[in-house]
Amino acid sequence: MPMAPLVSIRDLAVDFDGVPALRGLSLDIQPGEAVGMVGESGCGKSVTWLAALGLLPSKARISGSVRLGEQELVNAPAAALERVRGRRVAMIFQDPASALNPVHRVGKQVEEALRLHRGLRGAPARAEAKRLFDLVGIPDAARRLDAWPHELSGGQNQRVMIAMALAGQPDLLVADEPTTALDVTIQAQILELLDSIRREQNMALVLISHDLGVVAETCDRVLVMYAGRVVERAPARALFDAPAHPYARGLLAALPPLEGPRERLSAIPGQVPDPMRMPPGCAFAPRCPQAGPDCDAGVPQSRALEPGRSVACLRPAHAPRQPEYAM
Ligand SMILES: Nc1ncnc2c1ncn2[C@@H]1O[C@H](COP(=O)(O)OP(=O)(O)O)[C@@H](O)[C@H]1O
Ligand SMILES: [Mg+2]
Repeated sequence: MPMAPLVSIRDLAVDFDGVPALRGLSLDIQPGEAVGMVGESGCGKSVTWLAALGLLPSKARISGSVRLGEQELVNAPAAALERVRGRRVAMIFQDPASALNPVHRVGKQVEEALRLHRGLRGAPARAEAKRLFDLVGIPDAARRLDAWPHELSGGQNQRVMIAMALAGQPDLLVADEPTTALDVTIQAQILELLDSIRREQNMALVLISHDLGVVAETCDRVLVMYAGRVVERAPARALFDAPAHPYARGLLAALPPLEGPRERLSAIPGQVPDPMRMPPGCAFAPRCPQAGPDCDAGVPQSRALEPGRSVACLRPAHAPRQPEYAM
């Protein structure tokens, strides 16, 4: 029997002053599962979770449903969302330096999260903050609690952010481009850390990245997003080995090779469409080497390719990693 999902999203859509940002996303997340969301900047990855947690400005119009267990989060009262944020669902962002408060010592900031989410104060809060610093791999934790954010490296600040996110013992951690600002070695360490914490605590993880390599390594399955829609969903391995949607293939071709110099091979030609001027059919058609006139006739429906795998494309391919976009 399948477990009840931890989070169940149905037809979530967001627009800002009538301009669509997210066009109907559905997703179930099981307890302890790692799900990746990948796509170029502006495709709706962040908006999905900001909408779910009630963190968008009031001009955002949100429809659809996000259920956390029995609780509906879309347009829920502020007080209800406050009880969810940090405690059941925590979110970390790309730039830890701007998310941490520069005028408070990092240990105090973790202690504040512990007070807020678990009612801990004084010595027990301090001890728990130290335990969390140890857990996220900050060396010499007892002393580092008294550091200021500017005294720590970017990687260590991101570990502090993760410690703060773990303070509320969330069931789900949404990590939004958590390693984009970090260099490659530190990036790998942070991803490993997130993965080991997820396994140890049976915490679900949503990893958001524009980098297919990052999500493929860390996640069980992946949603590929383009222009506010999911264009392919697949087990991570299968997607990485043989992406079916031409956009997913483009993302893969744009990855640097595993060996050799880590420079960008080729970006996908063209640009993400202007949300005000969406193509009539498939949003990717103007950039797609496979597109035909039929692609403009309507938005392609998502179709199952195999269990756990679907693609919204009239001409999906199962080609292995191939050089269509490269060079
Ligand atoms: N506060 C906002 N006001 C207006 N438009 C927004 C706002 N936040 C995001 N958007 C728009 O929503 C779309 C999706 O953005 P986002 O989810 O941030 O993309 P990403 O996939 O890079 O995380 C983009 O077109 C973006 O410009
Ligand atoms: Mg984003």
